[in-house]
Amino acid sequence: MARAHLALVSFVAALAAASIIGAASKSFTVTNNCEHTVWPGILSSAGSAAMDTTGFALAPGESRAMSVPSGWSGRLWGRTLCSTSTSADGTGRFACVTGDCGSGRQDCAGGGAAPPATLAEFTMDGSGGMDFYDVSLVDGYNLPMLVAPQGSAAAAGGSCVPTGCMVDLNGACPADLRVASTTTTGGVACKSACEAFGSAQYCCNGEYGNPSTCKPSAYSQFFKNACPRAYSYAYDDATSTFTCAGGDTTYAITFCPSTTSVKAAGGAQGGGLPLMNATMIYLGGDQVVVGSATAAARVPPSVLHEVLIAVVSLALAGALY
Ligand SMILES: *[C@@H]1O[C@H](CO)[C@@H](O)[C@H](O)[C@H]1NC(C)=O
Repeated sequence: MARAHLALVSFVAALAAASIIGAASKSFTVTNNCEHTVWPGILSSAGSAAMDTTGFALAPGESRAMSVPSGWSGRLWGRTLCSTSTSADGTGRFACVTGDCGSGRQDCAGGGAAPPATLAEFTMDGSGGMDFYDVSLVDGYNLPMLVAPQGSAAAAGGSCVPTGCMVDLNGACPADLRVASTTTTGGVACKSACEAFGSAQYCCNGEYGNPSTCKPSAYSQFFKNACPRAYSYAYDDATSTFTCAGGDTTYAITFCPSTTSVKAAGGAQGGGLPLMNATMIYLGGDQVVVGSATAAARVPPSVLHEVLIAVVSLALAGALY
């Protein structure tokens, strides 16, 4: 009897706690649509509740769902070309060519992504009870990534729309930003101009540490042209931050999204800028950047030279609008 009563009391207490915390539940569904394994890494912001995992492997085609604690803030990214070194004592160290978090293990355990890495950034239940999210190339780029909210807030539209960078920029990366690997051909990542050159102007610090003095550069414009909704430099907020009203929301996070996954995610409507540049198209993993003569004139030859340009078809990309 007493036991049954206790069970009832704790059940009611759990219900009450759930309603105090808020009924809204948030979750991530992380999917690897790449043809290679991706090792997602997760870093919670200081003071935020922790996620159940800070790093794991996702084979091609694999998905993993996880709940996100109320009020969580932090970032998620993909690590590539990871392996465990073989050492004499048999205790291998896990390390990745891109996005490595320095833990020596699959779980990042508080380590952040070594740039360059494409980052998905979240602040759940923030100002006004809204979720804030973005995909950032401010620390450079290593993988195409899509963040697509699903649920009632997403159905309402507004700025609760998919964001990300659909394009594989590793091949098109300007030579002075490109990161190559000794073990694979072609580029494996693309640095930000801040990382490549370290100047205050590109890093938006010092006298350039505010939005009126730190302006887009030809390099940040390269990222912005390819991925109009992603952050291309530190003060790119106006076109790069997205919000969903409180409620049960699942954020589908996809590495190497296909154009069909964008359509499944509710299309590319809404937001200030298109999700995909109409002059770009995904071609079996190789992204082709398409430029017009006007666009070409604005980009310095050093950047332009390395941008692989070819018109393929506007029809498919056009269908995304
Ligand atoms: C798409 O890319 C072209 C060429 O890089 C650029 O001129 C144009 O502004 C881009 N469009 C958007 C919406 O970013």
